[in-house]
Amino acid sequence: MMDKTELLFPDAAGLDRAVALLRQGALVAFPTETVYGLGGDARSDLAVARVFAAKGRPRFNPLIVHVPDVAAARLLAVFDGRAEAVAARFWPGPLTLVLPLREAGLSELVTAGLGSVAIRVPAHPVAQGLLRTFGGPMAAPSANPSGRVSPTRAAHVLEGLGGRIAAVLEGGSCAVGVESTIVGLLDRAELLRPGGVTVEALEAVLGPLALGGSAEKPNAPGQLASHYAPTAAVRLDARDVRAGEVRLGFGPGECDLNLSETGDLVEAAANLFHLLREADRRAAGRGIAVAPVPDLGLGRAINDRLRRAAAPRG
Ligand code: TXA
Ligand code: MG
Repeated sequence: MMDKTELLFPDAAGLDRAVALLRQGALVAFPTETVYGLGGDARSDLAVARVFAAKGRPRFNPLIVHVPDVAAARLLAVFDGRAEAVAARFWPGPLTLVLPLREAGLSELVTAGLGSVAIRVPAHPVAQGLLRTFGGPMAAPSANPSGRVSPTRAAHVLEGLGGRIAAVLEGGSCAVGVESTIVGLLDRAELLRPGGVTVEALEAVLGPLALGGSAEKPNAPGQLASHYAPTAAVRLDARDVRAGEVRLGFGPGECDLNLSETGDLVEAAANLFHLLREADRRAAGRGIAVAPVPDLGLGRAINDRLRRAAAPRG
C-alpha cells in the first residue's frame, strides 16, 4: 500500500520516471488503444505478484505480456506460419496471440506455469514509447480491480487503483475502448475472447475460428461469467422502459446515455466502459437498461462485455 499514485505526463521525463519505477518492480498504469493496462516487469516475480495483489485478481489467470514489435515477441514465443500472418496483418493493434512459450526469462507467475504465453503489441504511441524506453516485456492486465469495469481514461484508473499503484501515465481516452481479441494458436485457431479486432477480419486471414474456453474452465478472465460488473443490476436487450431505470441507448431514440446516436459500433465500443460507469453513478442502486446492440463486427465484443456486466454476481 502506498499513499500516493503519481500522474505522469507522457513526455521524455514522464517516460523516464515510469521506467525508473518499473525497474524497481513498482507498477505503472499506461494507456493502450484498447483500455489502460496495469504494467509491471514481466521478468520479475515480485512485480507480477504486485499486479495480482493490486487488482485483487484470482491467481489462476495468466497475464498478457506486452512487447513493442514482432521481433521482441519472437524472443518469447514460437511463431508458426499462422502466427506470422496474423501478426503481420494486425500488429501493432488490438490482438493478443496465445503461442507456445520459449524459455525466455518470464516470471512463471505471468504464464501461470502454462507452456504457452499471451502476447500483444499495442499501437498506442504512449504504450510504444514506454515499452521501447523500458526495453523489456511488460505484463499488463486491464488497470481495474478484478471483476470491475475496465478503465478507458487515466481518471478511471485512479478511481479504482489510486493509492495501490506507483503511477499512471496520462494518455487521454482509449480509441478502441474494449480489450484486445485473444486468439489461441497452440493447436486449432481458437477465439478465446472477442475484442478490438473483429472475428470477421481474423477469419479472412486464419479461416474459421473455433470457440475456446468456457466460464467453467476459464483461461481468459473475460470468460468468468460475472466480469466488467457495475454495482447496479444490468438488463440487456431492453426495448421497453421500467420505472427508475437508467437507459443506455444505441442508435436514435430517447435514452439517458447513448453508446452511439448514429448506431456506429466503433463509437459504441469506445464509449462502452465510460458510459457503463456513468450509468452506474446515475443509477445509485437502481437498474441500468441497455438497448439491443447488433451482434456483428465490434458488436460481438460489446455484447460479450454487456452479458458479463449483466451476469449474476458470484
Ligand atoms: O486489451 C487488452 O488486452 C488489455 C490491455 C491492457 O492490453 N489487457 C487485458 O489483459 O485485457 P487481461 O489480463 O485483463 O486479459 C487477458 C487474458 C489474461 O488474463 C489471460 O487469462 C489470457 O489473456 N491469457 C493469458 N495467458 C494465456 C494463456 N497462456 N492461455 C490462455 N489465455 C491466456
Ligand atoms: Mg480486465
